[in-house]
Formats: sequence, C-alpha cells, structure tokens
Amino acid sequence: MVNVLVTGGAGFIGSNFVRYALATHPDWRITTLDKLTYAGRLENLQGVMEHPRHEFVKGDVADPSVAGPLVRESELVVHFAAETHVDRSIANAGEFITTDVYGTFVLLEAARQTPKLRRFVQISTDEVYGSVPSGASRETDELKPRNPYSASKAGADRLAYSYWATYTVPVIITRASNNYGPNQFPEKIIPLFITNAVDDIPVPLYGDGLNERDWLYVLDHCRGLDVAIERGIDGEVYNIGGGNQVRNVDLTRRILQLVGRPESLIKPVADRPGHDRRYSLDTSKLQSLGWRPQVAFDEGLADTVTWYRNNESWWRPIKDQDPAFRKYYQDQYGSTRS
Ligand code: NAD
Ligand code: TYD
Repeated sequence: MVNVLVTGGAGFIGSNFVRYALATHPDWRITTLDKLTYAGRLENLQGVMEHPRHEFVKGDVADPSVAGPLVRESELVVHFAAETHVDRSIANAGEFITTDVYGTFVLLEAARQTPKLRRFVQISTDEVYGSVPSGASRETDELKPRNPYSASKAGADRLAYSYWATYTVPVIITRASNNYGPNQFPEKIIPLFITNAVDDIPVPLYGDGLNERDWLYVLDHCRGLDVAIERGIDGEVYNIGGGNQVRNVDLTRRILQLVGRPESLIKPVADRPGHDRRYSLDTSKLQSLGWRPQVAFDEGLADTVTWYRNNESWWRPIKDQDPAFRKYYQDQYGSTRS
C-alpha cells in the first residue's frame, strides 16, 4: 500500500482528485487533511468518506502538530490546500499568506524529515506567470504574479522548489489553468454564473468582459497530475492546461445559452483591481510524458451545467441560506440577490 496524504481534499479539485485516485489506484491508502473553511465541504466527499482506503482528518496544514505526523507517515503528498479566490485575496490577503505560504512551509519542513517520501506535489497555478498578452507560458518563464492570491501561490511554488534544490525533498510543481466541473464553490465565474442564470438573476461580468482564460476540465487535471506523479522528474515544473482559450464574455454567452436565458442577464460591473488580462499555457512538457486533455470545452461545460441543475441541494444551502456567503456577495457585488 502507498500512503498518500491529500491536503485540501474537501475542496473542488481535491475532492475530485480523491475520488479519481481511489478508483484508479487500488494500492493507494488516502488520508485527506482539510480545515473545512467556507470552501471545504464534506458533501464533496460523499460516497468516499466511508471508503476502506480513505480517512478524513479535519485540521490545518499550518499546524505542525496535526500536519507533521501525517506527512511523516506518507510516501506521497499532494498539496491542494489553499485559499483560492482572487477577489477574496484582494479584499483580505492575510489568510492567503498563512495558508498558502506558511502552510506550505509547515508541510515542507515535515517532508524534510520523511526519508520514505517518494513525491511531494505542490499544486501551483498558471496565475503565477501573471498576465500574458500573447503566446503561451512555458515552465521556464519568469513569474510575475499580480494579485495577493497569485503572489502567495508563487511564494509557495518557489519555496517548494527550494526544498528540492536545498534538501532534495522530492518535489514536483504543477501549474494548472482555470479548472471547471462538479463541486466548484459558487464564487468562481462558471458556477456563479450557472447558478445565477438558473435563478434568472444577473451575472456580473467584470470590466469589458474581454479577459481570457484557458479552461481545464477538472478530471483532465486529475489525469495530468497522475501522469506527473508517475512519470515526472524531481525538481521539475509541469504546466497542465486545457487548450481552451475563451474570453469571459463568450463564456458567459455560452452559459446563458446552455441554461436557456437571454443575454440581457449580463450585467457589466466595475473591473477587478489589477485584473489579469490573459492566461495561456504551453503544455508540451507534460504532453511529452503521454498526457492529453480529453474533454472538449463545449462538452465539459454542458456536463457542468447539467451537474449544477441536478445538484441544487449542493449549492442552494450555500447561496440561499449561508449568511457568510450572502455577506460576501453583498460586499463583492453590492447586491443581496445571490
Ligand atoms: P477550493 O477553494 O475549492 O478548496 C480549497 C480546500 O483547501 C478547501 O477544502 C479548504 O477547506 C482547504 N483549506 C483551506 N485552507 C486550509 C488549511 N489552512 N488547512 C487545511 N485545509 C485548508 O480550491 P480548488 O479550486 O479546489 O483549488 C485547489 C488547489 O488548486 C489550490 O492550491 C489552488 O491554488 C490550485 N489551483 C486551482 C485552480 C482552479 O481553477 N480552481 C487552478 C489552478 C490551481
Ligand atoms: P475566477 O473564476 O475568479 O478565476 P480566476 O480569477 O482565478 O481566473 O474568474 C475567472 C474570470 O472571470 C476572471 O477574468 C474574472 C472573471 N469574473 C467576472 O467577470 N465576474 C465574476 O463575478 C467573477 C467571479 C469572475
């Protein structure tokens, strides 16, 4: 058995990864460590909470008394746990530093004391490259993060690298583009706009709507991580992108069409401060190890809309009943119509 520690496994990508990994690797015994912040939800792990090869531990990656022993029992660490929403980082950056940077430091310190550790996967992001006006970011490009979220992730990314270079901790770093799919918290553009559209209320599009993201279906991300874990080389960085460059306004139109709502629901709102114009990844390095994204964007987006339509019991308690989410929505969008 391979002892695997997944941090942040109650979040969007982490929970999809836990599910995927239990199904794909019969020899993995997974411990999920998650603080259950607003974004971490046990419902995301429904069906695998009782799995014989899975254990859930509620705890903070930045707490060495909890995280340290779990790392020291592991052969593989996949570190997803983070504060992840750019707008929240702009409003209040403190937690991003504590979790994304300091929490990563705590895990790496424990990893240093774990001779049996085969791999430590630092889940980074394409946002560390900053805004790329043209072309596609390669792993060797300069990092130019421009908001507190991406800067904290860049700090963690380079800290992880330094633990390989200095202490030979077997680190690999993956930088994925914008993920979408089931169980994404409805603060991010795709689930926010789908659920607003279902409720026939406006979708708040920042600025001129011409910012561009590369969209990656979450299971393609999981499969990419698997390939990087199995075939990657210590100390290396691997971009994982979907190859789907879409402008926000076009994404919004597609969502409205899929939900069956008019474009008049689009509400242009003030731009995000320091809003990165464009992200784009060159993924040839991971592709040379045998990975390809499999899910076409139109198909993945349609499936995602269907998932949110079929799982109102997952998102309505957050959007309609959680006072913290309603306050967030009011502060962010100046409206309680969430
Ligand atoms: P998410 O916000 O849905 O989930 C984050 C999870 O981390 C939650 O379950 C939360 O409870 C947990 N967490 C937060 N602070 C913690 C702490 N101190 N200790 C333990 N657990 C804690 O995020 P996500 O979208 O699933 O992103 C997961 C990872 O992937 C993050 O590292 C993020 O930077 C990275 N990433 C995300 C995207 C994307 O598009 N969502 C793209 C590239 C990289
Ligand atoms: P988001 O889902 O927050 O991901 P990220 O900022 O990490 O890329 O935002 C994706 C894009 O959508 C980004 O260009 C900002 C834009 N956006 C809006 O236009 N309106 C919104 O309400 C949100 C949340 C995002």
